[in-house]
Amino acid sequence: MRWHRAPAVTRKLQGIVWIYLTNIFVVTESSDFKTTEPAVKCEFLPINKDNYFRVREFRGESRVQEYREKLARQEVGFFAERDGRVVGNVWATVNNSGAQTVARTYMKLGPNEALVHDVVTGEEFRGKGIGAFMVGKISTILLNERGVSKIVIDVNVRNNASVRMMKRAGLQISQQTLAVSAFGKLISHRLLKQYPDRSGRLVGDASFHACTPSDL
Ligand SMILES: CC(C)(COP(=O)(O)OP(=O)(O)OC[C@H]1O[C@@H](n2cnc3c(N)ncnc32)[C@H](O)[C@@H]1OP(=O)(O)O)[C@@H](O)C(=O)NCCC(=O)NCCS
Repeated sequence: MRWHRAPAVTRKLQGIVWIYLTNIFVVTESSDFKTTEPAVKCEFLPINKDNYFRVREFRGESRVQEYREKLARQEVGFFAERDGRVVGNVWATVNNSGAQTVARTYMKLGPNEALVHDVVTGEEFRGKGIGAFMVGKISTILLNERGVSKIVIDVNVRNNASVRMMKRAGLQISQQTLAVSAFGKLISHRLLKQYPDRSGRLVGDASFHACTPSDL
């Protein structure tokens, strides 16, 4: 979630020192989000070894190898397909290990917890509700079919489109965190704010699993 669309210069800077202000969304039950339909009807297809290369239909050939590697790491992905063309995707890393793990080098996940990441839609298909549709669909599948008890989604606060997408998907911010990385390593990840859930409960202490340097 943190590196999308970063131009080359920005990526170089991120390799030196970078500060991320991130909104964390937590889903534990179906009432935490809305299932929405996009303005243009889309199918929602699991990504597997027979179709992963179809990422080229909206993100280009350079992503094909990356998607093969995601499957090899057992990430769980779905394409949104519109009129036979892939127009978006979403991925999740699910911790099925039975012990606490660190997902994508920065997020601690307890057993049966999942991090949703890489929500992307093709440029010409944005603003049609496809992102929110994918977030709702993957959340439903993870909770109901994959035995996931908690889903975490982190969004850079400066990514307005993403923040709007999460709103459309009915999600409420649970926490705001500040992460600092230097030379490609996370050196600090702090909880800045906790927000009450719909019932007024603060879930922050239980759900904040971001890494400290000692975990990395
Ligand atoms: C973030 C992203 C997945 C949203 O997907 P989407 O299918 O456009 O999602 P939605 O249709 O629900 O629109 C979300 C917001 O995007 C913005 N948006 C609308 N049209 C847009 C366009 N043509 N281009 C860019 N953003 C647009 C709007 O603010 C919209 O919310 P609003 O209509 O309530 O104002 C998409 O913009 C994207 O792929 N961005 C690059 C990857 C990225 O940043 N991913 C991080 C996800 S956490």
